[in-house]
Amino acid sequence: MTATIIDGKAFAANLKEDIARKVQILKDQEGITPGLAVVLVGEDPASQVYVRNKNKSTVAAGMNSFEHLMNDDVSEAELIQKVEELNADPSVHGILVQLPLPKHINEAAVIETIAPEKDVDGFHVINSGLLATGGQGMVPCTPLGCIMMLKDKLGNLSGLDAVVVGRSNIVGKPMAQLLLNESCTVTIAHSRTKDLAAVVGRSDIVVAAVGVPELVKGDWIKEGATVIDVGINRIEKEDGKTKLVGDVEFDSAVKRAGAITPVPGGVGPMTIAVLLKNTVTAACRQAGVEEPV
Ligand code: GUN
Repeated sequence: MTATIIDGKAFAANLKEDIARKVQILKDQEGITPGLAVVLVGEDPASQVYVRNKNKSTVAAGMNSFEHLMNDDVSEAELIQKVEELNADPSVHGILVQLPLPKHINEAAVIETIAPEKDVDGFHVINSGLLATGGQGMVPCTPLGCIMMLKDKLGNLSGLDAVVVGRSNIVGKPMAQLLLNESCTVTIAHSRTKDLAAVVGRSDIVVAAVGVPELVKGDWIKEGATVIDVGINRIEKEDGKTKLVGDVEFDSAVKRAGAITPVPGGVGPMTIAVLLKNTVTAACRQAGVEEPV
C-alpha cells in the first residue's frame, strides 16, 4: 500500500477561506470585527517569523491584528500588566503571548493571567480543565488541527485504536483528550514507553509529537493506519546540508500507512489557520452571537 499524502497546505488554505467568509458575515450582520493581539517579547528570530506570519494571516482573513513588541528585559509585572490591558480591551477577542519567554519570566504566571475566554492558544488551566471534562473552552491549535484532518480523512473515529507519542501540555495531552472525546481507545506513549514498536503497531491512528527526529519507524506502522506527524526537526544530512524531518520515518511509513502528513507541508500550515478559527469562535462567544456556519 502507498499512503495518500494529506495536504496540510491545501487544508489550511480552505480553512482560511472559510474563516474569511465567516468574518465578513460577522462584520456585515453583527458589526463585529474579530481581533487578535499577539505579544512578542524579545527578538528570537524564529518567534519573529511566527508572529509576522500570524499577523499577515489575521489581516488577510479580514480581522484586526494587534502586535505588541516588548524588550527582552521587560519585567514579569510589566508583561502581566500588558496582558491585563488586553483582557480589558473589547476590540481584542484573542490574546496570544508568543512562547518561549525569557528565563526571568514565569510562563505559567503569564498564561494564567490571560482571560480564559480570550486564550486562543488554549493553554490556560481553565481551558485544559474544560477540555478534560467535556466542557466548552478554547482548544489548543495544533491538536485541534490534527483532529480536523483526521475527521476529514476518516469520518467517524469512534472505536479506533489511537496512540499519541509525546506527552507535552501543548500537543500530546490535549491531543489524547480530543481523541478520547471522539471515542477512540487512546494510548499515550513517550520516551520511557517499553515497547513503542508494539504500541504503534496495533494503532489505527498514530499522532507523533515527541520532538525526536524519525523516532517512529515506518515498519512499525500498521497497514492502512493514518499517521499525523507533528514533529518539525532540522537535521544535518551526510553532505553537510540540513533538512526538515518529522518524528516519523516518512519514506518507509508512506509504504504502509493509509494516509500520512508530510513534513513540511502537513500539520505545520494548519496551526495558524486554527488560531484564526479560535479567534472567530472567541469573538462570537464574547459577543453572545452564534458562530456563522
Ligand atoms: N511558540 C511556538 N508555537 C507557539 C504557539 O502555538 N503558541 C504560542 N503562544 N507560542 C508558540
